[in-house]
Amino acid sequence: TRLAMSLSKTVYVTRPDVDSSGLELLRKSCNVSTWSQPLPVPREELLRQVAGKDALFCTLSDKINADVLNAAGPQLKCISTMSVGYEHIDIDECKKRGIRVGFTPDVLTDATAELTLALLLATNRRLFEASKQVYNGGWKSWAPMWMCGQGLKNTRIGLYGFGRIGQEIGARLVPFKPSQITYTTRSERATEAAKINALRVSFDEMLTESDFIIVCCALTPETKEIFNESAFKKMKSNCIFINTARGGVVDQQALCDALKTKRIQAAGLDVTTPEPLPLNDALLELENIVLLPHIGSADIETRKEMSRITARNILAALSDKKMEAEVA
Ligand code: DGY
Repeated sequence: TRLAMSLSKTVYVTRPDVDSSGLELLRKSCNVSTWSQPLPVPREELLRQVAGKDALFCTLSDKINADVLNAAGPQLKCISTMSVGYEHIDIDECKKRGIRVGFTPDVLTDATAELTLALLLATNRRLFEASKQVYNGGWKSWAPMWMCGQGLKNTRIGLYGFGRIGQEIGARLVPFKPSQITYTTRSERATEAAKINALRVSFDEMLTESDFIIVCCALTPETKEIFNESAFKKMKSNCIFINTARGGVVDQQALCDALKTKRIQAAGLDVTTPEPLPLNDALLELENIVLLPHIGSADIETRKEMSRITARNILAALSDKKMEAEVA
């Protein structure tokens, strides 16, 4: 029967705690096995489990390279990642072998833009630093200049990257009345920029003129550690640096030095290298930083829908149909 035929398709899911709505979609027509712990699957286990599978459901913590594809075998038809970023997947290797790659853009754009604003506000108005004072006795009295931060009004905000997420961050910044929103991209985005009156500037101009810099680009060979020592040196001393994209776009040692020496004002990071940050990392000792554990897309409905899109991408690939979102 048809059901028996399709049930012969096998899928390995690298997490047991993917929302059940996604797993149920897969289970209707495939034989699904999952890793047992709510942590990244150990490499050896992944290599063992992927053998003979038709599809792999993975996340950004799984490095999918030639070793994994070799271990899987020639029947592997698709890799579907529950993320918009896919720098953890060797796309060229997949292409060479005709393996299709699915991902989850769009669905997490609003959640990520929202978290970026939350992180920005927490950093510039020093929320965590101030809140700590309530608990540790540091709060003695209301005081005229105590715990003051840099407001967003009349400031210049630079968006590094102006794709889906950058544009939604930009839209959310407008009500805070900045004097100018700028964006830095390879190619002009005139129509999108016009909606929020954003000005396209060079990387150098963004670095030297911005009061806030928000990273919202993909991690590519071109953007890897683009925020390095020389970049931080060019920034204004009141500059606040926000990154909700990927830790890899930052030379983290250079950022740490810039914060320690007050070369720049503060930073808010939802992404770091590595993740999680070791508890003895120098960044954890700084006052002028807000660190979050990569929760940009972590709103409940978003994560549920991400699990379903990842599953539907697999089902589409297994029946030679168009995926909802496929890496070109
Ligand atoms: C992504 O999707 O790439 C985010 O980093 C996690 O949702």
